[in-house]
Amino acid sequence: MPYRVGLIGWPVDHSLSPRMQNAAFAALDLDWEYVLLPVPPGEVEKAVRELAARGFRGVNVTVPHKEAVMPCLSCVTAAARAIGAVNTVVVEKDGRLLGENTDWTGFLTALRESGFDPEGRRALLLGAGGAARAVAYALACSGAPVVVLNRTLERAEALVSDLSAVVPNSALQAGPLEPAVLVREAARADLLVNATSVGMWPHCGESPWPDDLPMPAHLVVLDLVYRPLETKLLRQAREAGAQGVDGVGMLVHQGARAFEYWTGRPAPVEVMRATCYQALKKGGLCSDS
Ligand code: ATR
Repeated sequence: MPYRVGLIGWPVDHSLSPRMQNAAFAALDLDWEYVLLPVPPGEVEKAVRELAARGFRGVNVTVPHKEAVMPCLSCVTAAARAIGAVNTVVVEKDGRLLGENTDWTGFLTALRESGFDPEGRRALLLGAGGAARAVAYALACSGAPVVVLNRTLERAEALVSDLSAVVPNSALQAGPLEPAVLVREAARADLLVNATSVGMWPHCGESPWPDDLPMPAHLVVLDLVYRPLETKLLRQAREAGAQGVDGVGMLVHQGARAFEYWTGRPAPVEVMRATCYQALKKGGLCSDS
């Protein structure tokens, strides 16, 4: 029987992880399989408790269980605790369950891969959900001052207060996601990261950047949204002459890190990347962009 890993979430049908991880196992000729584990809200504890007995070596965890899974685990890394979310669980041989967050390292690897070293560079982060918390943690740990803007200001303030308490020497500030604030902060920033869901299929015509205002050409713009591959925000960046970075790099690197935790082998990153691009291009989502 192959070793099994999978994805716990609700819903999970649109995930690219099975294709990406199974392509990686095949590339290394590993007898492993990655399966979808749809788990309704409220049933995560039972699902996690049964993992070892069902032969699982680990799982990824996605919405809405990334926080709820934490009390069910034997041990959670300091980073996952600071972020407040676990996206990767490793089932040890003795059945112990270790919780980690690979979103923040995945984000940093993707950012550096694009040629941007965040140390000492000013970052403007849009959003204050789970993904934004991982990005804020990554940037703060890398020595980047971060301004966090969110539609619901209280959520941005909570993020800033939580992370300021655990990341030494961090410089985090919160504000409302409003056009005037966005434009003012973008003029001072080196990096703009969209960690909201604005612009995600099927709402491809939306962007957190206002239509009638020019985007500064000096910005590096990273959109965590990868459906469509070129979001409206990335199109605005391209048209302004700014560097755009799509969300596939973070998707691939968070998965690659999870793969390495589970298998103990270096992940075939380029195989995983090619699989994602192939699936996303074939999907033809929002083909106008
Ligand atoms: P994830 O785990 O992917 O980060 P989430 O926790 O649901 O998902 O967070 C979604 C983020 O997108 C939030 O920052 C949300 O803003 P609120 O905190 O105000 O809800 C943001 N978001 C979603 N739809 C938005 C919209 N139409 N305009 C602005 N921000 C939006």
